[in-house]
Amino acid sequence: MIKKETIDKILETALIEEVVGDFVHLKKRGSSLTGLCPFHNEKSPSFHVSPAKGIFKCFGCGKGGDSVHFIMEHEKYSYPEALKYVANKYNIEVEETEVTPEFKQAQDRRESLYIVSNYAASFFEDRMWNSEDGKTIGLGYFKERGFRDDIIKKFQLGYSPDDWSALLDGAVKDGYQQEFLEEVGLVIKNDQGRVYDRFRGRVMFPIHSFTGRIIGFGGRTLKTDKAVPKYVNSPESVIYHKSNVLYGLFQAKKAIRDLDNCYLVEGYADVLSVQQAGVENVVSSSGTSLTTEQIRLIGRFTKSVTILYDGDAAGIKASLRGLDMILEEGLDVRVVSFPDGHDPDSYIQKLGAAAFKTHIDKNKKDFIFYKTEILLKDAENDPIKKAGVIREVVESIAKIPDAIKASVFLRECSTLLQMEERILISELNKMRLSKIKKETPRPHFDDSPPPDVEAMMYETPVASDEYQERDMLRVLLMYGDRMANWDDTTDTYIGPYIVLHLDDVVFSNALYAKVVKYYKEELEQGRLPKEKDFIQHQDREISSLAVSLISTPYILSENWYNMHNITVPDETEKLHGTVMGAIFHLKKKKIGSIIAAKQEAIKAEKDQDNVMILMKEYLDLKEVEKYISNYLGSVIIK
Ligand code: GTP
Ligand code: MN
Repeated sequence: MIKKETIDKILETALIEEVVGDFVHLKKRGSSLTGLCPFHNEKSPSFHVSPAKGIFKCFGCGKGGDSVHFIMEHEKYSYPEALKYVANKYNIEVEETEVTPEFKQAQDRRESLYIVSNYAASFFEDRMWNSEDGKTIGLGYFKERGFRDDIIKKFQLGYSPDDWSALLDGAVKDGYQQEFLEEVGLVIKNDQGRVYDRFRGRVMFPIHSFTGRIIGFGGRTLKTDKAVPKYVNSPESVIYHKSNVLYGLFQAKKAIRDLDNCYLVEGYADVLSVQQAGVENVVSSSGTSLTTEQIRLIGRFTKSVTILYDGDAAGIKASLRGLDMILEEGLDVRVVSFPDGHDPDSYIQKLGAAAFKTHIDKNKKDFIFYKTEILLKDAENDPIKKAGVIREVVESIAKIPDAIKASVFLRECSTLLQMEERILISELNKMRLSKIKKETPRPHFDDSPPPDVEAMMYETPVASDEYQERDMLRVLLMYGDRMANWDDTTDTYIGPYIVLHLDDVVFSNALYAKVVKYYKEELEQGRLPKEKDFIQHQDREISSLAVSLISTPYILSENWYNMHNITVPDETEKLHGTVMGAIFHLKKKKIGSIIAAKQEAIKAEKDQDNVMILMKEYLDLKEVEKYISNYLGSVIIK
């Protein structure tokens, strides 16, 4: 258990914009920051971060919380793991009430897999820097290829000895379990039950998740023998899903965000060389063809991708169609190819960093033009082939979600293709139309106020008093620890006042009832809960609710108002009215249902005396209702 004081310190120190900013590209928008939600796929930002409140909230998928909740959600960490992550980021020492000596065993399985992977990376690194064969063979190889020490260390490169069980023996000796090594594929058990290292006599490239944990390896052979596979890679495992990993992203993500561009190369060696040339915003899909998940991963950091191709023309043509996928995700794509069969690595090693950068600047082309040119060259003067080219190019343009961008490309391509623009437009519209027909309509998020997804979820089976209950909770959480004046005598706290007046109210929504109960208990303990106590509440249900309640679009996105020229009365200016309004609207709603039930009872009652009693009760209730209505009508303008 992490000590309460440590938790408080972590929560006080963490800046939500910094914690979230490590994963999401945030832009300032009014008093909050916005970006693309990392928890669901979207093309326009509905993800908000409020530095003032220390929370994030997505109006698209509804997720929200404080820094620690963000990390829990994003990294799939438990609460203590997420606390430790944030503590580590801010160099806060974590004090635990009791330390567990059986750390290795007690960790869950997944954690064990990370741990053995991390161990293996250190093992390979240690072998390369500190053993004789490591130094001469492994390090010697990297040196010969021109890699500097700082790059070798930055990527934690290593060497796996040419031995059947160097890693296995080392790991077991150091107390790691063979079972976990097997599960991540670092060792293999064959049919005869023999267990041996997967990587032998290879230089090792550890593969990091973009948060920096080691999840797999690529191992390159040092032999030139064609019969030996050049690279051996870790198999898929619980912690390594190839389709959503990009090699080098961990080392590149900051530069990608800062430079707002990502270079995409093909191999491990290319990533190293490009980084060494001082171009740090580079990743590789490492041999597999690019997946949508990988594109989305890039899309979290930038909307602009530049693909650095090997010079091979056939290979380029084959991959052209695959790149439409990137357009579809709304990213800008540029392409640079390299001459004479060079890949970025060989180009840099031969001609140097400066020549490499110049080459990129001179040769980068928008993907659409690049594609048009390549296909045209192929079609030459064959009119049938050319018609095919036009179709393919327009097909790519049709994938661009931004209509203005698409029309610019269309115009430029009409020149390249020597084809009238209006013909291309009509072709494009045909494609769009058939695409729209195919797709089921999805809600989109533009500048209209984002819908309150949680409220929408309640819409179908909603209790009729849901909205009143919800607003009551909102007022309680937001203003409970503030003062208001009720009767021109003394100022009192709002929270206790509300709770007192809710004594006769039964909440239909169980979660709201739970929060009110918690509030009461805290008051009984002599504590006055604050907004942040709810936001930071360990009960994820409560903290989620708190974030939803306080982050209506009206609070987080003042820009929306400015844009639509709407002035919102600030409810904090007349807190008394706000509080009374919430209480009485709720009570009116509740009494409305009680009255309706009473009417039903009267109708059903046969005994005349009982009817009289019920009638009396009914009239009393009507009196109260009238009083509430009058009160609402006269005192509160809502
Ligand atoms: P160098 O030859 O060392 O420059 O490697 P490279 O990184 O430039 O590799 P290359 O361009 O030949 O291939 C691109 C990527 O494809 C590599 O980084 C690997 O991820 C992958 N790859 C290449 N060869 C193999 C192989 O034999 N097996 C597997 N599984 N992957 C390979
Ligand atoms: Mn290469």
